[in-house]
Amino acid sequence: MLDVSAYSDEALIDRENQVLFRELPLAIGHASQLPRPGDFITHDASGVPLLVVRRDDGGVDAFINVCRHRGTRVEAAPHGNKRAFSCPYHGWTYGKRGQLVTIPHERGFACVDKTSRGLVRVAAGEASGIVFVRPAPLAEGEDAALDARAWLGPLVEDLEGFGVSSSVLYGARSVDKALSWKLAIDIFLETYHLRPTHKDTIYPMFFDNLGLVDRVGPHLRNVFPKRTINQLAAEPESSWTLRAHANVLFHLFPNTLVLVQPDHTAVLHVWPNGATRATVASYLLVPEPPASDKARGYWDANAAVLYGATEEDFTMGESIQRGLSSGANREVVFGAFEHALGHFHAEVRRHTHARSV
Ligand code: FES
Ligand SMILES: [Fe+2]
Repeated sequence: MLDVSAYSDEALIDRENQVLFRELPLAIGHASQLPRPGDFITHDASGVPLLVVRRDDGGVDAFINVCRHRGTRVEAAPHGNKRAFSCPYHGWTYGKRGQLVTIPHERGFACVDKTSRGLVRVAAGEASGIVFVRPAPLAEGEDAALDARAWLGPLVEDLEGFGVSSSVLYGARSVDKALSWKLAIDIFLETYHLRPTHKDTIYPMFFDNLGLVDRVGPHLRNVFPKRTINQLAAEPESSWTLRAHANVLFHLFPNTLVLVQPDHTAVLHVWPNGATRATVASYLLVPEPPASDKARGYWDANAAVLYGATEEDFTMGESIQRGLSSGANREVVFGAFEHALGHFHAEVRRHTHARSV
């Protein structure tokens, strides 16, 4: 059981923002968004404006996208390629490694030590092609290289085995929903809802209420078999492949979902937008950039199926959110088929040291 306040309490969301969304490694995107040296993306959904840049040596650096003069946003574009980043206000210019290179009319800033006025760094790293950032200024002496592989643990090999590292991003979109970010995650962690909620869309491909859940540290690995898996009984075991006959859904704690499908992967990053709203940024990871209208049409059709199903999910989540304040329920009940939700909320509590409910 979970107290319904978990989905609306302002003090809790403040704590989650301060702990989960500042101190943990957060997946923010995919390596294919910034393949070449000098490629960059900006990212704001965590609540901290970030600038992530591909280094010449192939790694990634991340900075707070705020000028060290008087605080203007330095880079406005969502992505691009640059050798330097120039603040639009007075033109202070920073190099690709964040170092402050140029102060126009520098004689007016005799007291400023340029070496200590670079963009503020945050820890960043990649694992299995996923870009992770910990969006808080580095502590004194803290390493800027984020060990994302250690954070994912054994899931690194799973994701690499499914080709997540070598894929390319396609069809990004972002939607705002009137529900707690935790409700948006809950929706994906059980198949108990599949038949009623997705009756006429994706349910016919799957079994009713059948899924396998593994806890992997704070994360989860879910396997949702499709009806076609029964055909394998007649085929030699050496020819079996899981992804052809099951969806594999990874929950990367706290807020990312990676859904492996037969020939591509879908990623959803769920960002809190206050206690009772969330922004869901999603995209497909496909084997190569689509080179023809036919290829684009194929992936667009896959995206449409995904987004159609997730709209059905979010409709239920928004319905729950609206009902929270009615007084009908003091707590929500998780049944045996919903134990992954219990794990998720226990991890949220463990990390935020919130009162156990
Ligand atoms: S605030 Fe950026 S140069 Fe002045
Ligand atoms: Fe669903």
